[in-house]
Amino acid sequence: MPDTGLIGTRHFLDLDRLDPAELRRILDLSLAMKSGRDTGYGDKPLDGRALAMIFEKPSTRTRVSFERAIQQLGGEAIVLERESSQLGRGETVADTARVLSRYVDAIMLRTTQEEKLLELARHATVPVINGLTNRTHPCQLMADVMTFEEHRGPIAGKAVAWSGDGNNMATSWIHAAVQFGFELRLAVPEQLPPPKDVVDWATGRGAKVVVTSDVAEAVSGADCVVTDVWVSMGDTDSASHHNLLQPYQVNDQVMAAAGADAIFMHCLPAHRGEEVTDSVIDGPQSVVWDEAENRMHAQKGILLWTMLAGAGG
Ligand code: CP
Ligand code: NVA
Repeated sequence: MPDTGLIGTRHFLDLDRLDPAELRRILDLSLAMKSGRDTGYGDKPLDGRALAMIFEKPSTRTRVSFERAIQQLGGEAIVLERESSQLGRGETVADTARVLSRYVDAIMLRTTQEEKLLELARHATVPVINGLTNRTHPCQLMADVMTFEEHRGPIAGKAVAWSGDGNNMATSWIHAAVQFGFELRLAVPEQLPPPKDVVDWATGRGAKVVVTSDVAEAVSGADCVVTDVWVSMGDTDSASHHNLLQPYQVNDQVMAAAGADAIFMHCLPAHRGEEVTDSVIDGPQSVVWDEAENRMHAQKGILLWTMLAGAGG
């Protein structure tokens, strides 16, 4: 668990930095709120509180789901985009953290460089939430685990297959495999693997995380097949990149190899016809719209956990 400089405030930075019991607690809160069960926090637990959201990259789901989540909990969201704020004119991340901490109760950041997230967390005196970096996307994984469990029961001991780029989502899936105890098989081109230190971290903890270039091997008997865009935000788009990833497209043949009981997930946005075919994303095994909805529910759990649960809740 890296970086002791960050211990103290209840940040949601990455799944590998948090205790599995705390992650489960967040999901329990999320599920309770989705089903209308009593969480013990009352009707409008974030009344009077505010979340600042800083975007250095585009977003549809993260922006709207966080905004709706905090509104429904009684609080409000304030959105800052890099180019229209002083961050775009050179104010430091540290100074931004110090100032925003005087106004709001938590800060979410979507950034081009993970180091900026860590810098923000080092200097903020309120919780910082990772809304996606070049390296990880932990909020998405909380929604993904929640969605899997709604459709297939406890994820522990189940098998998930990833087919595509070894990108930020792949890294967060590896973190999740360790923290939630499931098997993860990643089919990736040899040239686009997930970071070696992350795979080593997982296998060093006894997790069943396998990296292969063989899609059929990865998906055979899997309970869930996952993919993501071939070109992530900030990555260079090129014909050679597309050619490398073409064999990793999730199509009917791949879903048939996984089996009829496998569900299909994708964090979205999807590039239909590239990493996934219409027939799969719109097909009977796809749960992508539930997955997108669950961003809002999972983030309610994260917001409550970061802002309230530390105070003895
Ligand atoms: N999945 C996800 O984070 O989507 P956005 O980029 O639209 O926020
Ligand atoms: N890997 C994608 C995820 C988008 C939610 C990206 O970083 O662009």
